[in-house]
Order: sequence, then structure tokens, then C-alpha cells
Amino acid sequence: MGNLKKYLIWFANEHIDFRFQVSGEVVSIANLFKISIRWDEKPTNHPFWIVELKSDNCAKKLASRSICLRSISELWGFADESETLHQQLKNLPEHIIKPHCEPHLSFKIKVDMFCNSQTQAEKLKKIESFSYLPFQGPVKLKNPDRSFQYTEYYGLDPNTVPSEPYYVFFGRLVSGGQRNTITDMSLKKRKFIGNTSMDPQLALIMANLAKVSNGDLVLDPFVGSGSLLVAAAHYGGFVLGADIDYLMLHGKTKPTRVQDRKKKRAPDENIVNNLKQYKLRDRYLDVVIADSSLPFWRSDLVLDSIITDPPYGLREATERIGTTKAEVSVSESQLPTHIPSKVQYSLAQILSDLLQFATNHLKLGGRLVTWVPVFRSDYNSDDLPQHPCLEMISNCEQILSQFTSRRLLTYEKIAEPLGQKVEVNLSESYSNFREKYFNHVKTRREKENTAEVIIKTSVNGR
Ligand SMILES: C[S@@+](CC[C@H](N)C(=O)[O-])C[C@H]1O[C@@H](n2cnc3c(N)ncnc32)[C@H](O)[C@@H]1O
Repeated sequence: MGNLKKYLIWFANEHIDFRFQVSGEVVSIANLFKISIRWDEKPTNHPFWIVELKSDNCAKKLASRSICLRSISELWGFADESETLHQQLKNLPEHIIKPHCEPHLSFKIKVDMFCNSQTQAEKLKKIESFSYLPFQGPVKLKNPDRSFQYTEYYGLDPNTVPSEPYYVFFGRLVSGGQRNTITDMSLKKRKFIGNTSMDPQLALIMANLAKVSNGDLVLDPFVGSGSLLVAAAHYGGFVLGADIDYLMLHGKTKPTRVQDRKKKRAPDENIVNNLKQYKLRDRYLDVVIADSSLPFWRSDLVLDSIITDPPYGLREATERIGTTKAEVSVSESQLPTHIPSKVQYSLAQILSDLLQFATNHLKLGGRLVTWVPVFRSDYNSDDLPQHPCLEMISNCEQILSQFTSRRLLTYEKIAEPLGQKVEVNLSESYSNFREKYFNHVKTRREKENTAEVIIKTSVNGR
């Protein structure tokens, strides 16, 4: 692998599971750019991760897409106390320091604390403690040629902050990440949103896990308001979507924003205008009204990736076209205006169809990134949907409530199906997730009501 240099990745302290997995967002990006990335210690839930890379160029490529990453610096030293760090910096080989200390290069040193704060005067004192570094250029606080970062890490618990940091780091900043895209794509300013629109941060992470890149063909079979298409198109994907909900795709559902509830949706509220809003219109192929249990796509359709958030049956119905009647006939004359009836589409069936569809239509090496809701007390990774042609390469949790969470699963297609339909292994919890959720809510309400009655009775009885 040639000579590798140490870099410090500083992650945003949000959606920890998504970056702290070895196969999380940053590793997917490295994989996409064919960057070799090595680390001594597996990432943990700490926001700092030391990795080894070939060059600044590799670090810049990771930062050019990562949403979880706040910054990446060439690591000049790190220790569990500042004296050792200063000693390391004093012993640094000249070839590392010298190119960044030339007289024509302006510079600044920034002091950051994680889980602690300091006054300006204290920070200044810390900056001055690095005065032995042979910088010759002028100090420039805005857009300097070189930025250096001294960071003190005081742990994750704001209630037990130690008097001295656990770790101190010093590095040359190579690049910031793409956190600004989260604000640029905020749902607050999005033209068209629905009740279950995906938050842009997660949508962008999903597109990174799917390794969406320029010219890829990407499908969301449960497209809703198209948030995942926006993220995929942002990374250059040509996007397609499908959804069973006619009203949703035509922007005719009730407005989602509370302040607009009494109004009608504007005529331009639709997915294509969301893409236009972000200057991504040229990436939009189409969205169609379709039932994912009855895929209508031509059999030789090959997708680079599928990113989706299927319905869980909680905030939107899980339905598919079908009937419980034994015999149904629709006359020729009724066909143009016939609206087919729908029946329940269990989460287990949805996931089974989704994995089967992915197996049939993904290219080899293509990825399926999907959410799956789970009951936290029931969770067992062996119960997650599996298919012999799909390898699960990451599994990240987002906690939704005390008893439920959802898991973002990334699968990579490793083999072509041999024509046969393979049953997807699914535990019982996916067949009855909806019932279980509502039973749980009901039991909790009953308990709360009983508790309220007891409190009221005892208050009144006093
Ligand atoms: C969780 S929402 C997706 C939200 C979407 N990611 C967004 O950002 O707006 C799930 C979507 O699946 C759709 N859906 C439900 N059953 C379906 C089916 N059988 N076939 C296709 N879409 C279905 C619902 O209409 C809903 O829009």
C-alpha cells in the first residue's frame, strides 16, 4: 500500500451508528473511490477516528461526499495529555512540517473543545503554547492558506466532564465535510413534502451507503415525496420512483405543513419540482403510480442501486392491489375509470418482495439500502431479512422511541438469481409489527389512564 499517513476524522455527533460501523458511510465512500483506508482501532462511538490514507487527495475525496464527517486533518500528533503532544510535535520530521511553514503561506491555529468550553483568553494561551512551530507566514483568521486544529476531547457525557481532556489532537486541516448540504436541502424550504419525507441528512447518508455516482440508475419503489431521489440525484444518479398513492404523486394530498393545513397544495408541488429546486431536473427520469407487489418493469431492467423507505403501516397504509372477494370481473366499459380495490400488505411481504425485486434488478455489486422497523425488545440480527444473493454489509440503528427503532440495512448483490423464487427469511416480528405496535400503544394508554384514575381518585379522596 506504499507510505500511508495518519489522518484524523472528526465526525458530527449525530446518527452515531451510521458512521461508527466499520462498513458505514465513510467506508462506502472509500470503496466508491477505490481509496485504501486502514485503521488500527475500529471506530467507536467517539467522534474522532484515526485512519491511514495515501494522500491528502484521498482525504479530500472522502470529505467531498461525507455527511457524517465534520472535518479531516493530517494528524501531526495525539496523546492523552498535552505535554506528550508538544513533545511529539517538536520531534516531527521536517518534511512533514516545512512545506506548510513557508513565509508566503498565511495560517491560523484553531482551538476546539469537545464536551467542554473555554474562554477566548484560555484558547489564546493554548494557541501561544504552539509558538515553537516554525510558521513563518502571516496569521490570517479568514481563509488562510493553512489551518491547524488543536482539539481537546473531554468524552461524551456533559454531566461528568473531567478536569483534563481524555485526548488531545493536533493536525493540519485538509477539508471540511458536506454538512452544509443538510441545510441547503432542509425540508423546511423544500417545495413538496409529505408526512413521511426523509430528513435530508439521512437521505444523503443513504445515497452514500448506496454508492450512488454520476450516471447511475437509481430507483425508489416507495417514492412518496421523492426525498431519496433528491439525495441520489445530488450525487449524479438518474432517478426513477414508484408509489401506489395517486394523490401523493400528483401533489393532491392534504398539505403537510401545519400552517398550510387549511389551504390546497400549490399546483407545482410535486417531485419533479423538488429536483428543479436543487437544479437537478436533468437527473429526473420519471415517477409512476405502481404497486410494488406487482412489479411492472421489463425483466432486463438493470439498476445500479435501490434506496427506499417502505411503509411500516404506522403513519401510512401498507396496501397492495387485491381483493378478498372470490370472483371479480370488471367490464370493458368500466376499465378506464376502474380503481382497483386494495388489501393489507404485511411488512413481511413488503420486505420479501423488495429483496426479491432487488435480486432480480440490481447489477452485480449494486446496492439496496432500506429501512426496516423493529421492536427493540425483540431485536435479533438473525431475524433481519436475508436473501442468498444479497450480502448485508451494514446495519445501523436509529432509535425512534423507547420501544421501537428502525434499522438502515445496506445489502450488496453478490450473485445472480438462478431463475427460482427464493423465499426471504423473515421472523414473525415482521408479520405482525403493525399489530404489535398498536397493541403496545393501546396497553400503554390503558396503563396511563388507569394511573390517571388512581391519581385523581386519591387526590379527590383526600
Ligand atoms: C415511508 S413512505 C416513503 C416516504 C418517502 N421516502 C419520502 O421521502 O417522501 C412509504 C411510501 O410507500 C407507499 N406505498 C405503500 N404501499 C405501497 C405499495 N404497495 N406499492 C408502492 N408504494 C406503496 C406509500 O404511499 C408511501 O408513500
